Amino acid sequence: MPTAKTKPKIKPARGKLGVLIPGMGAVATTLIAGTLSIRKGLTSPVGSLTQMGTIRLGKRTEERIPKIREFLPLANLEDLVFGGWDIHGKDMYRMCLDTGVLRKKHLTPIRNELKAIKPMDAVFDPEYVRRLTAKRAKKAPTKMALAKLLIQDIRAFKKSEGCSRLVMIWCGSTETYLEKNSIHDDLALFEKALKENDPSIAPSMIYAYAALREGIPYINGAPNLTENIPALIQLAKKTQSPVAGDDFKTGQTMMKTVIAPALKARMLGVSGWFSTNILGNRDGEVLDDPDSFKTKEKSKLGVLEYILQPKLYPELYLKAYHKVRINYYPPRGDNKEGWDNIDIFGWMGYPMQIKIDFLCRDSILAAPVALDLVLFMDMAKRAGKSGIQEWLSFYFKNPIVREGLYPEHDLSIQLSKMKNNLRHMMGEELITHLGVEYYDNSK
Ligand SMILES: NC(=O)c1ccc[n+]([C@@H]2O[C@H](COP(=O)([O-])OP(=O)(O)OC[C@H]3O[C@@H](n4cnc5c(N)ncnc54)[C@H](O)[C@@H]3O)[C@@H](O)[C@H]2O)c1
Repeated sequence: MPTAKTKPKIKPARGKLGVLIPGMGAVATTLIAGTLSIRKGLTSPVGSLTQMGTIRLGKRTEERIPKIREFLPLANLEDLVFGGWDIHGKDMYRMCLDTGVLRKKHLTPIRNELKAIKPMDAVFDPEYVRRLTAKRAKKAPTKMALAKLLIQDIRAFKKSEGCSRLVMIWCGSTETYLEKNSIHDDLALFEKALKENDPSIAPSMIYAYAALREGIPYINGAPNLTENIPALIQLAKKTQSPVAGDDFKTGQTMMKTVIAPALKARMLGVSGWFSTNILGNRDGEVLDDPDSFKTKEKSKLGVLEYILQPKLYPELYLKAYHKVRINYYPPRGDNKEGWDNIDIFGWMGYPMQIKIDFLCRDSILAAPVALDLVLFMDMAKRAGKSGIQEWLSFYFKNPIVREGLYPEHDLSIQLSKMKNNLRHMMGEELITHLGVEYYDNSK
């Protein structure tokens, strides 16, 4: 049996953990309001693996299946403190009402705590999010100077809130599409470009740079290029900071990464996969801009290509036509409806169809994902991990991986990988699902 080679060397989660959020809109406010409600015992953390999930240790016959939060030295929800940046300047109670995700009766008991959380002024560039206009944005002569202002905010927040540790999680809008170029390839070039106001440095990159300079884990909940560039990965390594991304995997893509592996497992062919959505929240409005949609589209399209591996199975998947659409439709607010029409074929080429109609709630799905990521990334930092945390690909549409590797998209493989990483970190035996040990009579 494979055994873990390391003994747990994770520093304990002592003191408060500050959660810094660039972009305090629907996802961020739902995360904050939910956490505050859970703390008061008003609701339960449905959707959160760290809070509700279990992990098997050892053989099936041992019946050792602790709760993940009891097995790992994760931060306690009581110790979480929230802060962040946005362009609207509104407190979190006001924003919860504006986004309309949660009902007023769920907000009233946590009204005062929500009112006390106000965003700091953002680093914003309308070229990168064209559908929004900033009311509260920082001004400085260079992008490097903006990064330094963010670092001042981070330090001031840490001090005033008495935090022992921080994590940054981007819940901001999807930025316009940005191609990687040579200034992204090296930290020194990137820093020079920050000083020279290079247009190919997006605001999200300035936040990531500030966080990583301070040795703070960075999580990217959007499909923005941000931290997935060699310059920022170098910085992450240098300052011992873990990074994870990109783009929370919550609704339609989560379903895709369950269904597509099942079809491939049974060698059923796919001739087409049409995914469309209607969505009426601010995210939907931002994605109505073709350049922001392009960033999202790329993230959503990659999944099938990797899962179906058309080069290995040309007969089954080479001709699969994949289309993704997001339509802004205000009446639905945060309640997205995602349709998938999947044209498949089976034995002797006979066609069949699968239809999925997922009436989901975007932020209700995303908030527990964000919570888990915050807690895991804080632990990763205490475990001495830095750079890309591929074991967290379970949570992302477009998981970042080391150059030269392809990402793993299959949700069930991602879960096994993550749980084995958790066992490994805690010095427990890895689980291979081989199973012969239960039938080997000589032992
Ligand atoms: N909800 C989901 O299921 C889901 C899934 C995957 C990814 N995402 C991504 O998560 C992000 C947040 O989604 P949301 O529904 O909360 O969107 P939202 O529009 O409600 O909130 C985003 C917030 O970011 C702010 N913002 C934009 N640029 C900023 C900047 N430079 N600095 C600070 N704030 C900035 C906006 O003002 C807004 O308040 C989006 O990028 C979305 O695509 C969401």
